[in-house]
Amino acid sequence: MSYKKVIITKYGPPDVLKVIEEEFLPEPEKGEVRIKVLVTSASFTDTLLRKGMYPEVRKKPPLSPGYDMVGIVDKCGEDASMFNAGQKVAALTVYGAYSEYICLHQDTLISVPKGLDDAEVVSLILSYMTAYQMLHRTAKIQKGQSILVHGAGGAVGTALLQLGKLLDLKMYGTARKSKHNLIKSLGAIPIDYQSEDFVERIKTYNGSGIDAVFDCIGGDYFKRSFASLKPGGILVAYGFQQAVMTNGNMLDIVLGFIKIKLWNILPNKKAATFYAISSLRKKQPDWFKEDLTALFGLLQQGKIKPVIAKKMPLSNAVEAHKLLDQSSVEGKIILIVNKE
Ligand SMILES: NC(=O)c1ccc[n+]([C@@H]2O[C@H](COP(=O)([O-])OP(=O)(O)OC[C@H]3O[C@@H](n4cnc5c(N)ncnc54)[C@H](OP(=O)(O)O)[C@@H]3O)[C@@H](O)[C@H]2O)c1
Repeated sequence: MSYKKVIITKYGPPDVLKVIEEEFLPEPEKGEVRIKVLVTSASFTDTLLRKGMYPEVRKKPPLSPGYDMVGIVDKCGEDASMFNAGQKVAALTVYGAYSEYICLHQDTLISVPKGLDDAEVVSLILSYMTAYQMLHRTAKIQKGQSILVHGAGGAVGTALLQLGKLLDLKMYGTARKSKHNLIKSLGAIPIDYQSEDFVERIKTYNGSGIDAVFDCIGGDYFKRSFASLKPGGILVAYGFQQAVMTNGNMLDIVLGFIKIKLWNILPNKKAATFYAISSLRKKQPDWFKEDLTALFGLLQQGKIKPVIAKKMPLSNAVEAHKLLDQSSVEGKIILIVNKE
């Protein structure tokens, strides 16, 4: 039986994504499970992979992007007895999920509770997990503290605000003006980064500074975010949006890492660290499963509601990447791969 997938043919703009047809379904190896993918997402991180700016993936094109997925177990390989055909599972794939079928090791799969919406579940795997772990595992944020979220209208930003609201945090979020109503509706005070200096705005609101900043922008933002912290505060860096969007070179990214390390060592009563979802999962796989279970619980109880910007078929991956490149997305883009 044949199946379709979307591949990056070479590094470059969205048009390098092509739909191809494979003649035969992939066969699960020992310990692996074949999954019929129902949904994946188009995320900013996929655009990094497409541009050749995602060093965590060493594999070169042609390859499929797709960092997260929800699907149905289709076939179990030898010694893969943890799941049965027909079960619904989710995984942080890092790449490969822009495909109708994928084989994954059973240890990487998590069973999805019944009754949840697939698009909402897939939003939890990369975006909410990143937000949840940065808040609880990295910053160890406490009820009532204050946070500044950059990229607050994006997939991770909106997740941070929803999770932050559950902790009664005082929240500020940077975004362009058109996303300010969304940010207000999520309980945060919006800051227009295009016309205002967020360091000054934070000073006006909170003279002594803020408890934590979540910064996916990088470049001069890291320094300014660090300056916005109060003594005892923490900068959690987790991306380099500025360098990527201006097609900057990898040196900016390397320098960003070095600065974060230095600021953390220097005696300045503030902390700085870099969060990376796949590295933390490698180090603490038990946390990944525990935290996803907590997120499933919050979704089941209606305490979180992922902001879904668009649902589109996998074949529209080029259009989805164009929207991501223009930063015009509010929340998450879901790619529908197969009907259940
Ligand atoms: N380290 C990790 O483990 C990890 C995990 C997940 C994601 N990430 C990274 O986190 C970042 C965000 O991911 P995402 O999926 O949330 O992306 P996204 O949905 O595209 O959101 C990013 C947001 O950043 C905003 N933005 C761009 N330039 C800005 C600036 N100068 N100041 C403030 N906001 C700005 C954009 O909105 P407006 O400009 O319209 O306001 C956009 O909404 C990406 O760089 C991604 O690679 C890292």
